[in-house]
Amino acid sequence: MVAMLDPKTLTVLVTGATSGFGAATVRRFHKAGARVIGTGRRKDRLDALKKELGERCHVLNFDITDRDAAMKMLTTLPAEFSRINVVIANAGGAVGLDPAQSADLNDWDQMIATNINGVTYTVRATLPGMMERDEGHIVIIGSIAGSYPYPGGNVYGGVKAFTHQFALNVRCDILGSNIRVTSVEPGLAETEFSVVRFKGDKAKADKVYEGVKPMVADDIAEQIFFCCTMPRHVNINAIESMATMQAWSPFAIKRKT
Ligand SMILES: NC(=O)c1ccc[n+]([C@@H]2O[C@H](COP(=O)([O-])OP(=O)(O)OC[C@H]3O[C@@H](n4cnc5c(N)ncnc54)[C@H](OP(=O)(O)O)[C@@H]3O)[C@@H](O)[C@H]2O)c1
Repeated sequence: MVAMLDPKTLTVLVTGATSGFGAATVRRFHKAGARVIGTGRRKDRLDALKKELGERCHVLNFDITDRDAAMKMLTTLPAEFSRINVVIANAGGAVGLDPAQSADLNDWDQMIATNINGVTYTVRATLPGMMERDEGHIVIIGSIAGSYPYPGGNVYGGVKAFTHQFALNVRCDILGSNIRVTSVEPGLAETEFSVVRFKGDKAKADKVYEGVKPMVADDIAEQIFFCCTMPRHVNINAIESMATMQAWSPFAIKRKT
């Protein structure tokens, strides 16, 4: 029987805690007795989260693509939240599904800014403190899109390939410390992800999940919780999951007709 890590010893910072995986992860750790810090741009949702969870919850309202704000994210924390030992770099997502030849460059910029810059700022802002205390865990939310291409996935797949490799490379740098790094790489999961990708078009977003049982945010939160509560000598490098009704197709071949 494995002695799992006591979640009550954890102070967990989750970026993008206003919906989807981030909100579910904050609730999962809080329910298990951890202190939680949730970040995001939508202040009303952060305030509601704080009201719901109470004193073991703190919220930080800033845009993860704002380098100065992100690098200062720990500076205003109350003392009881300052010894962070789990960081979940989750804020991100896809914008658009257009082919590379006609995609909107603003969409590409936004995906790079949130999924690459935002993740690197999050790690850079939090890693030194964990190194100093020689205890911590960084979890980066990637995607199966980083491993398997699909039409219209262009930059989204690219940024999630980045987060996978970034997670592995950070591990190399901190080898010898008591700090873990995990890349969590889910497939089809119903959150606000598709509403954001299709810029508020709910009908289009609903079509993505039509006729199939996708994973939900709690499924991913549970996987993250599992990785973070394994005994300290165990590092789960990457965890990939899909809805049972999702799999791969053969390679596409364009034939002359
Ligand atoms: N759902 C899926 O199918 C799926 C599959 C694989 C991987 N993922 C990844 O999982 C992560 C979470 O996505 P989700 O499915 O939970 O989507 P979601 O429901 O849209 O949640 C995205 C979260 O990211 C935050 N965020 C986005 N841009 C931000 C910014 N500039 N600054 C601060 N926070 C920002 C949002 O908060 P605010 O809008 O309040 O700022 C929100 O809390 C993303 O990295 C996504 O790429 C999702």
